[in-house]
Amino acid sequence: MVSKQVSPPLHVAVIMDGNGRWARKRGLPRLLGHKVGGENIRPVVKVFAGMGVKYLTLYAFSTENWARPRIEVAGLLRLLAGKVDRETRAFHKENVRLMHLGRLDRLPGKLGQRIEAAIELTRNNTGITLCLAFDYGGRDEIVRAVRDIVNDEIPPEKIDRDSFSLRLYTGGLPDPDLIIRTGGEMRLSNFLIWQAAYSELYFTPVLWPDFGQEEVEEALAKYQQRQRRFGNV
Ligand code: FPP
Repeated sequence: MVSKQVSPPLHVAVIMDGNGRWARKRGLPRLLGHKVGGENIRPVVKVFAGMGVKYLTLYAFSTENWARPRIEVAGLLRLLAGKVDRETRAFHKENVRLMHLGRLDRLPGKLGQRIEAAIELTRNNTGITLCLAFDYGGRDEIVRAVRDIVNDEIPPEKIDRDSFSLRLYTGGLPDPDLIIRTGGEMRLSNFLIWQAAYSELYFTPVLWPDFGQEEVEEALAKYQQRQRRFGNV
């Protein structure tokens, strides 16, 4: 007998891929694809929240993305700054709790502080928690946790899976139940590589700017059909 998931996933994480191709298909510059992709975030957050998802993590910029052309990196940073400055209030009004995964120290100017202020403002909100992964890399995150453990001189016998998890950017958050990747590629690209140990994976060819309510519903319906065993039988 196949036992299906009865409740929605607690935590969904999304690799928002395909902005560049979305733009190219229309003869537009890649950055316009990112802009439209960025505009898709708030409505999609609303859809996930409405479907009962409590944590949503979005992969917006990886530690490897710094290697993209300078103009594209600058454009993505501008989009991030615009989101923080223009959408924090709207998220706050919608009771969304904002979090950030990744490094803040390499962001230009006061952007890191503005993100921290947005997190502080929404800290006590009780709706969906939206984690934006920006300058995030899974391997980086693990190395950073190991360094912290060494710096804090933690004895080896005190290190276990739970105490290690707490030292990751996601410390205290549940592992993602479902990881969605848009844009047709089938890999994790250094996203939540520790946390993904038992995540269900869902790949769709739909490009991120086109990913809306219907696609969310389909992904969650597919998740409901999965049988999760966590290594058991
Ligand atoms: C992948 O598309 C997408 C990204 C690298 C960036 C994701 C960014 C956004 C959704 C919008 C910006 C939002 C913020 C908060 C900065 P790609 O460029 O790899 O697309 P391609 O595979 O079609 O080239």
